[in-house]
Amino acid sequence: MLTPAKVLVTGASGQAGAALCQQLADDPFFELVPLKRQQLDISSPQAVSAALQEHQPSFVVNCAGITRFSDHDDVAERAFAVNCEGAATLAEACARAKVPLLHLSSDAVFDNHYASGYTELDEVAPQGVYGESFWQGEERIRASLEQHIILRVSWLFSACGNNFLTQTVNAARTEDSLEAFSDHIGCPTSARDVARVVSAIIKQISNGAQAWGTYHYCGAEIISSYDFCKEILIAASEYENFKVEKLIALLAEEDQQEDSLPGSSVLICKKVLNIFGIRQRPWRQELKSEMRALYQLYQGGTQP
Ligand SMILES: NC(=O)c1ccc[n+]([C@@H]2O[C@H](COP(=O)([O-])OP(=O)(O)OC[C@H]3O[C@@H](n4cnc5c(N)ncnc54)[C@H](OP(=O)(O)O)[C@@H]3O)[C@@H](O)[C@H]2O)c1
Repeated sequence: MLTPAKVLVTGASGQAGAALCQQLADDPFFELVPLKRQQLDISSPQAVSAALQEHQPSFVVNCAGITRFSDHDDVAERAFAVNCEGAATLAEACARAKVPLLHLSSDAVFDNHYASGYTELDEVAPQGVYGESFWQGEERIRASLEQHIILRVSWLFSACGNNFLTQTVNAARTEDSLEAFSDHIGCPTSARDVARVVSAIIKQISNGAQAWGTYHYCGAEIISSYDFCKEILIAASEYENFKVEKLIALLAEEDQQEDSLPGSSVLICKKVLNIFGIRQRPWRQELKSEMRALYQLYQGGTQP
């Protein structure tokens, strides 16, 4: 009989964490230990060691993180506490327990200048607090745990949580006009698609693949923030007539915010294809199904 891989997931209530837990729970190959922030704060070394001791997982996946969409006042402090110190704490505990770690990182380690996208070999140039916190977190993992996969993802969306999709739909319900950057391109990626990729990687590693290192994954097809916003409104208009009448194209280049970078968040995903045989999935179909899920939540009285 096959022994299931026991996977401990941190940040289990976030968009990537929840999608991953659903994916693993439906698959008999896995035994799932889903831990929300309230059950495991990854910035506490004692709590992390105790969780590994208690659950004895065969794999840890870190979906905990502070993103641009995280709604906190002390965001810089938290970003370093979670994306850097938390990631390092997990890696050190995994090293002591001899357990592999898959960590979700971000395109924010790059400076957005390559319109054609970034490979894993491109030099990083972290911008702002998120980029720096993710990059330092990655480096701490590399330094303390050989058995790691760092999976950089970008532009995540799902029906739940605070992300570009839910923010756009919520704003379109109440605002007359919306704004989005036309000079920032990326590849939207559904949280469920990330869950598919993570699950496939863990399976192959559990079956003996020794392919540790850093990988990129994002959905197929490049689009600007402005055009993605338009696609979201078109997909949502199947369910609802919006108040919004105008979508205004802004230039990130002219914006004063620290994290409003013009350019490209595109990640080139050839390595994950070559090593694990994982292909990018188009995000358009995923957008439709997440929109359906979002409106089911609305109809059930939930405000995501
Ligand atoms: N969203 C994107 O577009 C994007 C892009 C690139 C990379 N990523 C990275 O991918 C990962 C998953 O992103 P996501 O979109 O799923 O983020 P998310 O929806 O904001 O989920 C993050 C989760 O981390 C939890 N968390 C925060 N601090 C924690 C701590 N100290 N200990 C344990 N859990 C903690 C949060 O819990 P609470 O909600 O209870 O605070 C939340 O459940 C993150 O590392 C993120 O930075 C995301």
